[in-house]
Amino acid sequence: MNRKGIVLAGGSGSRLHPLTLAVSKQLLPVYDKPMVYYPLGVLMLAGMRDVLLISTPRDTPLFAELLGDGSAWGMSITYAIQKKPAGLAEAYLIGADFLGSSLPCLILGDNIFFGHDLGPRLRKVNNRPHGATIFAYPVADPRAYGVVELGAAGQPLSIEEKPAVPKGRHAVTGLYFHDQQAVDFARQLAPSPRGELEITDLNRHYLNSGQLEVELLGRGDVWLDAGTHDSLVDASNFVQSLETRQGQKICCPEEIAWRQGWIDDEQLARLAHRQQQSPYGAYLAGLPGQSGI
Ligand code: TTP
Repeated sequence: MNRKGIVLAGGSGSRLHPLTLAVSKQLLPVYDKPMVYYPLGVLMLAGMRDVLLISTPRDTPLFAELLGDGSAWGMSITYAIQKKPAGLAEAYLIGADFLGSSLPCLILGDNIFFGHDLGPRLRKVNNRPHGATIFAYPVADPRAYGVVELGAAGQPLSIEEKPAVPKGRHAVTGLYFHDQQAVDFARQLAPSPRGELEITDLNRHYLNSGQLEVELLGRGDVWLDAGTHDSLVDASNFVQSLETRQGQKICCPEEIAWRQGWIDDEQLARLAHRQQQSPYGAYLAGLPGQSGI
């Protein structure tokens, strides 16, 4: 499927002050890698090799320094600036030229996903040519999120941004598969009372025209947004526990690129060599010698 990815990695990160006074939230570490590796890894798992990263005027050069043009991972990564945090849906206005006639997928730079069979599920959704698919995740207190109300058959009934009285307990996660209509829908949006172009309003366009599908994430799936001091530590601890126990990394872009066949053993070895002083580099160096999956 000809789909391009957008990682939205701007924002003000004000809940993480003073950590984010001088550096972007999405460049902060989540255990052993920068936060942005996780959403990037999700796009890669879904099969997307062409990615636009959008961030602030201050931080975009730092992302470019970290990720380059993507060729080391067999990808193309380009960059665009969002002048002010004017809302998630603005990503489609900024990214319109990049997308051209391709289908878009938007992921937020501070969202971490992990789950059984996530890759195959993402690839299935990636292959849907029409409409929109969002991912819903049950949370104890959905009031801080976009909330989707689901019917008995799991079909979406309503979608609201940060409702005071939520009509359900499913938060809408920061991963959105749309079709080409997304850019036009974004152009029709007016800023919400908080002054943002809301992705929830864009998704409502799809809902109202019967084109919104919801993928349910469940008990076996993990969705974290590392936007507060506590959730940042929680995310690091989660990744550390799992990686240490299993000896396998979560959302390691070099590994995903290699397993997807976008880079060969030699290219992987070069990436490992560059980081050979760290356990991360040693992990990369050891991948080809592992048998099985
Ligand atoms: P938020 O967590 O809503 O906002 P924030 O990151 O600015 O943090 P805070 O609330 O602490 O000030 O944003 C979710 C994600 O979307 C995050 O990765 C930042 C990004 N974002 C943008 O890139 N541009 C935007 O206009 C907005 C609203 C968010």
